[in-house]
Amino acid sequence: MSANTPYVQVSDLRRSFDVSKPWLDRVIERLPRQSLKAVDGVSFAIARGETFALVGESGSGKSTVARMVVGLLPPSGGEVSIDGISMVDPRQEAARRRLRARIQMVFQDPYASMNPRWRVAAIVAEPIRAFGLIEGEAAIRARVGELLGLVGLHADDGRKYPHEFSGGQRQRIAIARALASQAEFLVADEPTSALDVSVQAQILNLMRDLQDRLGLTYLFISHNLAVVRHMASRVGVMYLGRLVEIGGGREIFVNPRHPYTRMLLDAVPDLGRIGRARIPVSGEIPNPIDPPPGCTFNPRCPLANERCRREVPRLLDGVACHAAEEGRDR
Ligand SMILES: Nc1ncnc2c1ncn2[C@@H]1O[C@H](COP(=O)(O)OP(=O)(O)OP(=O)(O)O)[C@@H](O)[C@H]1O
Ligand code: SF4
Ligand SMILES: [Mg+2]
Repeated sequence: MSANTPYVQVSDLRRSFDVSKPWLDRVIERLPRQSLKAVDGVSFAIARGETFALVGESGSGKSTVARMVVGLLPPSGGEVSIDGISMVDPRQEAARRRLRARIQMVFQDPYASMNPRWRVAAIVAEPIRAFGLIEGEAAIRARVGELLGLVGLHADDGRKYPHEFSGGQRQRIAIARALASQAEFLVADEPTSALDVSVQAQILNLMRDLQDRLGLTYLFISHNLAVVRHMASRVGVMYLGRLVEIGGGREIFVNPRHPYTRMLLDAVPDLGRIGRARIPVSGEIPNPIDPPPGCTFNPRCPLANERCRREVPRLLDGVACHAAEEGRDR
């Protein structure tokens, strides 16, 4: 693998779900099969040590991308490779198994993924045992203590149960468990969305601090733009399964080009952009089973015209918008 191959490469990733009614209903009501394109041709790359964020409203396909990237969900098409190893190709199963310990997910609700009857030390030690990373109880205990310290908890906290902790502390435990398996790539899906604002900031700062210390790579998913601005060096904006804009965090926040990106940013008053007319957030996300033709954003877009209702815009130079391409977006 050459030195400039990105650590994570996602190419033309697709995933459809069969959302048909049950067979008998279909026959009686003469309904066709229905499929929903949750992710439709998404491509991006993440460099080692970088944070790439996916943003977009609920249902835009962020979690579906995340699940495919870590290999929890098979794609309908496209490719994901991490450190040169395909997450899709069946011939690379052995290499993928070795890679698994280096990839971890962090979820919005850490409590849901913890056995409430296990002590925290056992929870954090679980990946160490599962991957057979350390021999001997004393050595495992020492490593668990070290991991708890790394996330700002005390080694003695390992003796307690998950319910004895606050939401923010439980997210620290989940991060310690993720790091226990020698993870170098963390996929964090709304990791702070369930937390109070002040606690959110502490967890985000912890994640940044760990990234600096351990050289971690992050795929960070959030619908909260203020959070994304704090975390990401590069950002992809998703709408109805597609990437509509991708670029450096600074570029996107200072000079958003896609009308949808502008709409999202305008909904956050304290992001402090001035000197440009605001695009008010309006309209509802269309039904993903039956999206509008052409640019799927056209029913909500103040710049939509005939071409937009007919032709799907391609991602050109980081933005998928006819108006941007034609220069009539200013
Ligand atoms: N297993 C499934 N079966 C059918 N449809 C699904 C399935 N999983 C996801 N979807 C649909 O795929 C689309 C994308 O969902 P996804 O959960 O990836 O969105 P998201 O951006 O993560 O949203 P949120 O911000 O609410 O978490 C949605 O329309 C969703 O209803
Ligand atoms: S392609 Fe047309 S409808 Fe879609 S975002 Fe651009 S201007 Fe709006
Ligand atoms: Mg989601």
